[in-house]
Amino acid sequence: MTKTILRALAGERLPTPPIWMMRQAGRYLPEYRATRSQAGDFLKLCYTPELAAEVTLQPIRRFGFDAAILFADILLIAQALGADLWFETGEGPRLSTVTGPADLARLRPAAAVHEVLAPVYQTLRILSGALPNETTLIGFAGAPWTVASYMIAGRGTPDQGPAHRLKAGDRATFAALIDLLTEATVEYLSAQIEAGAEVVKLFDSWAGSLKGRDFADFAVAPVARIIAALKARHPATPVIAFPREAGAAYEGFARATGADCLALDNSVDAGWAAAHVQRDGCVQGNLAPGHMVTGGPEMDAEIRRIVRTFSAGPHIFNLGHGITPDADPANVARMIDVVRGG
Ligand code: CP3
Repeated sequence: MTKTILRALAGERLPTPPIWMMRQAGRYLPEYRATRSQAGDFLKLCYTPELAAEVTLQPIRRFGFDAAILFADILLIAQALGADLWFETGEGPRLSTVTGPADLARLRPAAAVHEVLAPVYQTLRILSGALPNETTLIGFAGAPWTVASYMIAGRGTPDQGPAHRLKAGDRATFAALIDLLTEATVEYLSAQIEAGAEVVKLFDSWAGSLKGRDFADFAVAPVARIIAALKARHPATPVIAFPREAGAAYEGFARATGADCLALDNSVDAGWAAAHVQRDGCVQGNLAPGHMVTGGPEMDAEIRRIVRTFSAGPHIFNLGHGITPDADPANVARMIDVVRGG
């Protein structure tokens, strides 16, 4: 096994951590903005395999990251289940809402998702043939709780209020939606692996708003079910989990879910994570995305601190969340130089 990302995910400690970046294909890159305007809108870009593959490859060509992440979105699966989905320019996603049993009954069964998602698999097939030999191809999906929070509210919300209210007021509908998403995500990620994804990642961006029993039931249990089902079908494919803002619950999360690697958000103390999380396996992430905007000696120092702190175990360098549109590509290039010893 020569790909550095796969070696780190297998638990190997490498002298230089491999590196990729959340949202590495995105609006901070002029070449992304050009392809995006060629596509017309964001969903058209996601569902046009040649263009989605092109934007996936752009940051690999420009920066030489060790991994490429499929260009798509975590909300495509909602559309594949029958929800309406569109993006309001400058505002973000909008969806038809799931507020009770009648809305749930209108959704399609898990096994039906492939019809809408077929172009995503085609993007992966193109990428499998186009990536440099040393670059790992990562597929992904949203975790059930995060996707459910958008499907219930019909949009992004600061506190996932509508999802929490459905959970409290109609737990049967809420739990059935989580189950449907869990099964659909197994189908979706299995098909991604069969199309060429060598690693898959589960994004639970809103895991931090689940507490106590709810965290166990809706952040841990569905992710554990997805990973168990994937490992049964594709035992050699590593899984990265991102329970963003989980705080102390990062400890033990890899053991409880079977994840091979945990992505750490930038609120986690690196020293604490090295002692309490990294002992269970590989970790990635932690650098605050704001450094990609501000750069300078503070960025260099923070990168070196993170590399040093995780140097005793398996580590993949990454940001703690997605890079923002106002980031400077020169800071990204500098980050890679510093990680690789510059
Ligand atoms: O990381 C990558 O480069 C791969 C592609 C990717 C995108 N979204 C592309 C995208 C991935 C892995 C995602 C994940 C995603 N999408 C998450 C989980 C990670 C996170 O950021 O917490 C979430 C919550 C979404 C839902 C979503 N998609 C929102 C809320 C938005 C609007 C916010 C924004 O940044 O504009 C999107 C749009 C989106 N997804 C863009 C990109 C590049 C920007 C759309 C554009 O080009 O106009």
